[in-house]
Amino acid sequence: MADSIRNKVAKDYHLEIAPPKQDFFAKGLGHGDWGMKNRLSRLFNPKSGNTVMLAFDHGYIMGSTSGLERIDVTITPLAEYADVLMATRGAIRSCISPTVNKPICLRATHDASVLKNDMSVGGGCGADMEAALRMNASAVAIQCFVGGAGESESLETLCRAVDAGERYGMPVLGVTAVGKEMERTTQYFLLATRILAELGASFVKTYYCEGFEKVVAACPVPIVIAGGKKLPEKDALTMAYKAISDGAKGVDMGRNIFQSEHPTAMCQAVAKIVHEGYNDQQAYEYYQELA
Ligand code: 5RP
Repeated sequence: MADSIRNKVAKDYHLEIAPPKQDFFAKGLGHGDWGMKNRLSRLFNPKSGNTVMLAFDHGYIMGSTSGLERIDVTITPLAEYADVLMATRGAIRSCISPTVNKPICLRATHDASVLKNDMSVGGGCGADMEAALRMNASAVAIQCFVGGAGESESLETLCRAVDAGERYGMPVLGVTAVGKEMERTTQYFLLATRILAELGASFVKTYYCEGFEKVVAACPVPIVIAGGKKLPEKDALTMAYKAISDGAKGVDMGRNIFQSEHPTAMCQAVAKIVHEGYNDQQAYEYYQELA
């Protein structure tokens, strides 16, 4: 074979350099396989360990929401400032160009619409693992209703997604829904986040609350916070700062970014807190400079 003649002889084995330690940066996720870790390293920045996820999945229960009337117009310019895009396959496929090279966290449940006025039911499978792989997703998000009428169905959907996710190396984001019957207490979030992690979620989305550092400590995998209803920008940045200071590994924020007066400035200000150690005041000043 021509290629075997006059090849350079392999001789530089770098004997003086120790092999790299193979610790994994994300809490509780060091024992997964390569594909799973590779996807997690797209979701979370391996340097800061954190992530800014931009959530625009609201239409799957709320229909056309303020700020998301035209996803193609409002989300496309924001995408470059976020680390991850979180939405349904319908929204992504129809409104986001496949050339936007951002990891996708695919909303993979269908839940009760706003007409039901009950965020404690739902949890049916909205997109299976094959759909997620076809969308080149880096994670799937499963909403769970711990303590609500939809508890059993949603936890079943979570477990099946974890089974399939382990087969294909797909992280599952467990989302704690807060419905009518569920109070936003430390006790509730301690319970709900822990249950989702114990059932195999790779990371968990929840709300910021009193005693959040305990919620983080008791959850064996990373936590990201939802933003919730639109707040004044300064307050939303303060919430993000407190969450990161208490150990959250990022945000999965929607309305407080895309409903902001200046969405791209807001997204960049949040990123300063999440990745660069800015406090809320510094981030707010940065927001004002950009706005
Ligand atoms: C509810 C959700 C939402 O659909 C959404 O992603 C949350 O975004 P925000 O509250 O920041 O507008 O996950 O559980």
